[in-house]
Amino acid sequence: MTDPAGQAKRLSGAEAARLVKEGAVVGLGTGSTASHAIQELGRRIREEGLHLVGIPTSYQAADLARRNGIILQTLDDVDRVDIAIDGADEVDPHKNLIKGGGAAHTREKVIDSLADLLVIVVDDSKLVGRLGEKSPIPLEVIPMAVVPVMRRLEAMGGQPAVRIAVEKDGPVVTDQGNLVIDVRFPMIEDPETLESALNDIPGVVENGLFIGLADLVIVGDRRDGTIRRIE
Ligand code: 5RP
Repeated sequence: MTDPAGQAKRLSGAEAARLVKEGAVVGLGTGSTASHAIQELGRRIREEGLHLVGIPTSYQAADLARRNGIILQTLDDVDRVDIAIDGADEVDPHKNLIKGGGAAHTREKVIDSLADLLVIVVDDSKLVGRLGEKSPIPLEVIPMAVVPVMRRLEAMGGQPAVRIAVEKDGPVVTDQGNLVIDVRFPMIEDPETLESALNDIPGVVENGLFIGLADLVIVGDRRDGTIRRIE
């Protein structure tokens, strides 16, 4: 039997994939929920003859997309991104997000911010009243700057920790060859200001606050298997 969270993610991802139109340039998000969208796009290509071009946000997305028959290009090759479909770790009532649970937030922010329509796919466990309730904010940091960035985050009132890999000894290394610091703050009052302040720290490449980017959130419900839209 499919677990309820897995089923909710599958429904949400598949629903987003159905929004993709013929000939679209599609940003392909990273994570387990976005993976369902990539698989559904593959099904539509095979069974409906849909044509599209994918712009992957990570090695994971690129690999899955190739295995599903999606033609990939880079941002150098396209003049627009029609739609991006991506997951999130937290979604607040204003559709602001924390992303980066898969350490892919730098490429995700580049591609998601270019999309005419950014669709976020989640199960209902990701909905929060205020960003930071459950998830830390991930920062991608160049390796030589990790110690000063940690000190600066502490001076800002944060509790930073270098993210440690699970099936590898040592730190998580991003697709760009950088490290990830996850930082928790006691209370995030103004996520927009914090997003800029974090990126202003020398050595930080990008952080996982995505403010004002999402156009549509598709939420799969773990209890009853329904989906709903937050517009
Ligand atoms: C990767 C991300 C993911 O989209 C986010 O972590 C959600 O993942 P999942 O759908 O597996 O819960 O931001 O960097």
